[in-house]
Amino acid sequence: MTDLKGKVAVVTGAGQGIGRAIALRLAAAGADIVAGELVRDRIAATVEAVTTAGGRAVGVEVDVRNRNQVEAMIAAATENFGRLDILVNNAGTDIVRDLVELSDEEWDLQIDVNLKGTFYCCRAAIPEIIKAGGGAIVNIASVAGYVCYPGGTAYAAAKAGVTGLTRALAGEVGRHNIRVNAVAPGPIDTPLARTVLKEMATRDDPQPFAGVIRRWGKPEEIANAVAFLASEQSSYVTGDTISVSGGAFMH
Ligand SMILES: NC(=O)c1ccc[n+]([C@@H]2O[C@H](COP(=O)([O-])OP(=O)(O)OC[C@H]3O[C@@H](n4cnc5c(N)ncnc54)[C@H](O)[C@@H]3O)[C@@H](O)[C@H]2O)c1
Repeated sequence: MTDLKGKVAVVTGAGQGIGRAIALRLAAAGADIVAGELVRDRIAATVEAVTTAGGRAVGVEVDVRNRNQVEAMIAAATENFGRLDILVNNAGTDIVRDLVELSDEEWDLQIDVNLKGTFYCCRAAIPEIIKAGGGAIVNIASVAGYVCYPGGTAYAAAKAGVTGLTRALAGEVGRHNIRVNAVAPGPIDTPLARTVLKEMATRDDPQPFAGVIRRWGKPEEIANAVAFLASEQSSYVTGDTISVSGGAFMH
């Protein structure tokens, strides 16, 4: 069992889907959780699920595109639990639209939530993780950053950017005993994926995310990989992106 006792983790997009599963998984391993989430109604449910399972969590309403809100979320870790060891950049959004039809706003939304939000959270969190003596950052990328994905240029660019950011940042903070890795999920059964894959099925394109394990993944299967990367079990892994995709993408 992964041991995160005494550790404090910030998880963004923790209100549903993969983020909620990550918050519960890290809490089950002993970490105290700051659950950052855009949609207010979802925050209390995640906090309650963690506390009902015997963990400790506080919820913070945050839009990861907003620098001030991100800084307040990071501050909530030290204010409530005295330290910050782990950051999981999970908040994300997706759209299926051909590039020639993408509006400026649609492009910006993909880049700003998926990539710039990750930048804001890392920049705010790293000084606190250094104060704690080191720790781990886990970014949620996507196999969409690797495979041909018609209708997904903005999302693919943002998620490929997350993989690149992960690698470069690992090089900057290794000296501070901070490891930076990413998980690239394949199709995982969440509200987001159900919407996106339904839309993709209406298009006259090859289906890009068919894995060799012939089912959708579960949010808990991503959370297990995040727990590994957040813990000392992966103490010599950094700068990498692990695909958890049922074989939809293999390195
Ligand atoms: N589900 C999949 O198949 C799949 C595959 C590859 C990658 N991913 C990635 O996994 C992550 C989680 O996806 P999911 O499927 O659980 O999605 P989801 O939509 O089910 O959950 C995402 C959560 O993030 C929150 N969120 C959205 N924008 C936000 C913002 N600006 N600030 C703070 N919170 C915000 C949402 O309110 C929601 O609660 C995303 O980064 C997504 O791109 C998912």
